[in-house]
Amino acid sequence: MERQWWHNKVAYQIYPKSFYDSNGDGIGDIPGIIQKLDYLQYLGADILWISPVYQSPLADQGYDISDYYQIDPRFGTMEDMDRLIAEAKKRRMYILMDLVINHCSDEHEWFQKAMADPEGEYGNFFYLADQKDGRPCNWRSYFGGSVWEPLPGTDKQYLHMFHKKQPDLNWENPKLRQAVYENINWWLKKGVAGFRLDAIINIKKALPMVDYPADRPDGMVNPGVMLAHAEGIGDFLKEMRDETFKKYQAFTVGEVFNDKPGELEAFIGEDGYFSSMFDFNETIIGGSPNGWYDSRPVTAEDYKAGCFGAQEKIGKLGFYSNIIENHDEPRGVSHYLPEGQVCDTSKKMLAGLYFMLRGLPFIYQGQEIGMENVEFQSIDQVDDISSLEEYQVALDAGRSPEEALQAVKRYSRDNARTPMQWNDNLYAGFTTGTPWLRENPNYRTINVEAQIEQEDSVLQFYRSLIALRKDPEYEDSLIYGACIPYLREQKNLMAYLRKGEKQTLLVMGNFQKELQKVKLPGAYDLVLLNNMDELTEMDEEICLKGWQYLILKMKTE
Ligand code: GLC
Ligand code: CA
Repeated sequence: MERQWWHNKVAYQIYPKSFYDSNGDGIGDIPGIIQKLDYLQYLGADILWISPVYQSPLADQGYDISDYYQIDPRFGTMEDMDRLIAEAKKRRMYILMDLVINHCSDEHEWFQKAMADPEGEYGNFFYLADQKDGRPCNWRSYFGGSVWEPLPGTDKQYLHMFHKKQPDLNWENPKLRQAVYENINWWLKKGVAGFRLDAIINIKKALPMVDYPADRPDGMVNPGVMLAHAEGIGDFLKEMRDETFKKYQAFTVGEVFNDKPGELEAFIGEDGYFSSMFDFNETIIGGSPNGWYDSRPVTAEDYKAGCFGAQEKIGKLGFYSNIIENHDEPRGVSHYLPEGQVCDTSKKMLAGLYFMLRGLPFIYQGQEIGMENVEFQSIDQVDDISSLEEYQVALDAGRSPEEALQAVKRYSRDNARTPMQWNDNLYAGFTTGTPWLRENPNYRTINVEAQIEQEDSVLQFYRSLIALRKDPEYEDSLIYGACIPYLREQKNLMAYLRKGEKQTLLVMGNFQKELQKVKLPGAYDLVLLNNMDELTEMDEEICLKGWQYLILKMKTE
């Protein structure tokens, strides 16, 4: 495999609205990110993915863009953005913008023009249909309700896969595609290193649009069913790559949930459409087509199967981007560790297990200090549109308000969107004003300042993981080596070998509170990492304490 500049890097996702507020208006901003670059460098992050800061009504927190060439004043100015790119460069860091091109905002000029003249040039930038013919298809939007909505002031309707304030762009129209590429190149010229591609699999619709069998009493169907019928997305993605990313050696990571069997190589193999895509295999475990209220908790065995399934699928074909959380998911430690067992040791184990898988590790803001889900007291404390929808879905299915709130607590996207916990000052040191979303009360004990001081903190453990992954000595195994499950059948043990040409490392975590014995595949030279002080050995066996995590460098024969 040809080596790329980003292979040995570590990525970090910033959700600007909740990261750091520099001017006291309660909303995080770009100058706030700049002020924290030294901290990110101290952590060891190189690639920074910035969730959207473009001009937006913020109906979906910036994933609804009304001008791709402007920064929203709440986040700062274009000068701030240029300064961020320059300051990052000084520190050898790379900025990734979020590329939201499946849809724009209904307040975007294109959509305004389409409303004014649906038969004109911009009508064809969207999917429009006559109202008199009824809904063209029974697809349900990701955020609930039909994907069809009347186009105000006209006798037309328009398609939105997400919120009704996020009309889908018509990728079948070459003019729209050119307008998108122009924007991408504009940002690349500015000096961004690449993009995270939002909801990208949705740009190709199954045409002509038809009904599929309903999967809920509302008579509609999950949009994923349509995606399974859509053919030919590769033509769009290839064209986009050739017209934009390729010329700049940009790094791109796709948000892809619904790839089809056999598509992986075209997507992220050598000369793929993108550099990488997220492994979401674990995030969908336990989910239910009925909604959050019907989901079940993830077990250690589920988690292991999810990770190994993805690793087997990709092999050495390319690089997945590995995560335990992002701005759309609950906090990883609250989601993957059993209730009542979330502590510094188990948090470090989970961190170490996903981080050393083959692929590019992404850290979501606050993950590195072990931030947890929020104990929302009532639905009024929840802001996110998808959580409010899921609350309603639970009520409609006959669940009590308490049960519905329970489901939202477990899965709400707001769990990840509370302010970053910098210190134990008021509002976790995030703002001097009033934060746009309430902080998690546990900031008094879980915060950056305290963990910088504390030698065995979760933060310091992340720093060790990052340092190890970047150590050129271990590039052979940790970056380019194969990932081979070890003792896969042993319950609540997740272990794997990272096997390079020169060296082999054994990574293992005891995913339970009880002790567990592990037979070693051979002798080892060195303990590279241990999330506990002690290590209990017997002949050819190691006895792992509850939640213990180890990386061993094996002896070469
Ligand atoms: C992606 C984003 C999510 C957003 C959606 C619509 O899934 O990560 O936050 O709501 O796309 O843009
Ligand atoms: Ca601000």
